[in-house]
Amino acid sequence: MDIRLEHVGYTYARGTPFEYQALYDVSLHIPQGKYIAIIGHTGSGKSTLIQMLNGLLQPTEGVLKVGDFTLPVKKQKGMEKLRQHVGLAFQYPEYQLFEETVRKDVAFGLTNMEVPPELVSSRVSEALRLVGLKPEEYGDKSPFALSGGQMRRVALAGVLVMNPKILILDEPTAGLDPAGHRSILGMIDRIHAEEKRTTILVTHSMEDAARYADYLYVMNNGRIWMEGTPEDVFQKPDKIQEAGLDLPEITRFIARFNRRIEETGSSFSPLPYNIFKPETLVEEIAVRMRGKRRKTR
Ligand SMILES: Nc1ncnc2c1ncn2[C@@H]1O[C@H](COP(=O)(O)OP(=O)(O)OP(=O)(O)O)[C@@H](O)[C@H]1O
Ligand SMILES: [Mg+2]
Repeated sequence: MDIRLEHVGYTYARGTPFEYQALYDVSLHIPQGKYIAIIGHTGSGKSTLIQMLNGLLQPTEGVLKVGDFTLPVKKQKGMEKLRQHVGLAFQYPEYQLFEETVRKDVAFGLTNMEVPPELVSSRVSEALRLVGLKPEEYGDKSPFALSGGQMRRVALAGVLVMNPKILILDEPTAGLDPAGHRSILGMIDRIHAEEKRTTILVTHSMEDAARYADYLYVMNNGRIWMEGTPEDVFQKPDKIQEAGLDLPEITRFIARFNRRIEETGSSFSPLPYNIFKPETLVEEIAVRMRGKRRKTR
């Protein structure tokens, strides 16, 4: 299911004194199976944009297409079908947990569709395993007796249980410790690779956007300010900073490193800017060090 937006705008509370235009003239095309990151300063319109992708908000201007679904629509009928395909995990999804057990909570979306109970049970177990929670250990616990990171996983399982073709995650690691952060993003990356789902990650972390996504959209004041591969986007530091963002730490390191090579007239060749993983960076430096040793021998 491809996603296409043509000149989409969104105005909150139109026609009231609280009217506020949050999105302007957004056009984009996301092919099935891609891993996309949306970055942008707070209030830039990221959450507004992704809430349109599953029909929670309808464009007030322009047209949005997700597979065969076209928005805006006059009647809300049929929207549940769109929501089965487009799974959206909100910012702080654990606030939406409400059932008495983890199993019931994860099953919630399925109970509204006529799925036979045995199938519900096996899909819930599968979703819990996908997010790294053993069903036999966690299934019967109250979601409120879990840690923040575990609650986050339960909420994600509740989205994955629907087996959506498109998975949208609004800051899934906000407030988690570094280990929880790594583990959730690693999990999302694995799920993306295994199932070839479209994955859309909203994040404030330039590192995560660069490391995981194939393609980035940078939002600024309700508009798409930049787009491209991480390498393309982060090669324009001035434009990134103008949008109130920063470069990934690794990119800043490479820029300094290359400047130093130039200043000192070193025989090291400059590092390429398409490196976003520490392990790749180490490898590139090691290659240069080996080369240098040979030369000086
Ligand atoms: N329900 C609403 N009514 C009116 N204005 C809203 C509403 N929700 C959001 N806005 C405004 O729309 C703009 C975009 O908000 P949005 O939540 O999309 O930003 P965001 O990029 O997700 O920010 P953050 O990084 O803080 O989550 C903001 O200026 C916000 O104040
Ligand atoms: Mg937001």
